[in-house]
Amino acid sequence: MLTKIQKTAEYIKAKVKSVPDTAIILGTGLGALVDHIENKNYIPYTEIPDFPVSTVEGHSGNLIFGTLGGRPVIAMQGRFHYYEGYDMKEVTFPVRVMQALGVKTLFVSNAAGGMNKEFKVGDIMIITDHINLFPENPLRGKNYDELGPRFPAMTEAYSHRLIEIADNVAAEKGIRVMHGVYVGTPGPTFETPAEYEYFRIIGGDAVGMSTVPEVIVANHAGMEVFGVSVITDLGGKDVTEVPTHEEVQKAAQKAQPFMMEVIKGIVARI
Ligand code: HPA
Repeated sequence: MLTKIQKTAEYIKAKVKSVPDTAIILGTGLGALVDHIENKNYIPYTEIPDFPVSTVEGHSGNLIFGTLGGRPVIAMQGRFHYYEGYDMKEVTFPVRVMQALGVKTLFVSNAAGGMNKEFKVGDIMIITDHINLFPENPLRGKNYDELGPRFPAMTEAYSHRLIEIADNVAAEKGIRVMHGVYVGTPGPTFETPAEYEYFRIIGGDAVGMSTVPEVIVANHAGMEVFGVSVITDLGGKDVTEVPTHEEVQKAAQKAQPFMMEVIKGIVARI
């Protein structure tokens, strides 16, 4: 695994002028956020050795290098989901490559269903914590001490410092942001009404099918993480609307400019 990570990192390093210390994973419907990145260089996933290839509609697969607010960044346009059939090591492989490239700060974004009754479709939720309901932990198996400790703490999986910066940015720009706990599920089904209720009861504010594996690995790697969800649908026993992938994409696209303002604002201040 270490050799594979190194090989992929070397391939990427040879292709770019400067290697960024900040990375952004763009979730469902949020791929157009790359429009805000300047001086862009694209590397399609298909050209990167050992990189999985994204299969879902609405997720183009490109690694993008450029600058955001003057700071060099690397962005993943499209991520790998467990529900696509990848195992947890494949889902999180790009984060390992980022680690090998020297990335210290990771931004993750996603579309999520809201269980918190105060949430509205289109809201932006800063992730304060998560609940891992994937059937497997990405760190299961042999631990490579070079990559991180055997038993990493998850006490501050989402950096309090970055959350505070995000709150300040949002307040200054007049953007409504909620805070909440993200429940990560394997998917690909959306939840039954009873499941949305259950996730609320156990402490979740929003639910989605990604993010948690990458955030676990990023924490293992010692990165500082900032996570944000767009609430694309609402769930619970009193909700009658049926969520669809198209709706999720549409709602995410609508929230995109606000999300980017927040991310850009943080990047400028870290
Ligand atoms: N459930 C799970 N994943 C999701 C949802 C949802 O309601 N919305 C967007 N991603």
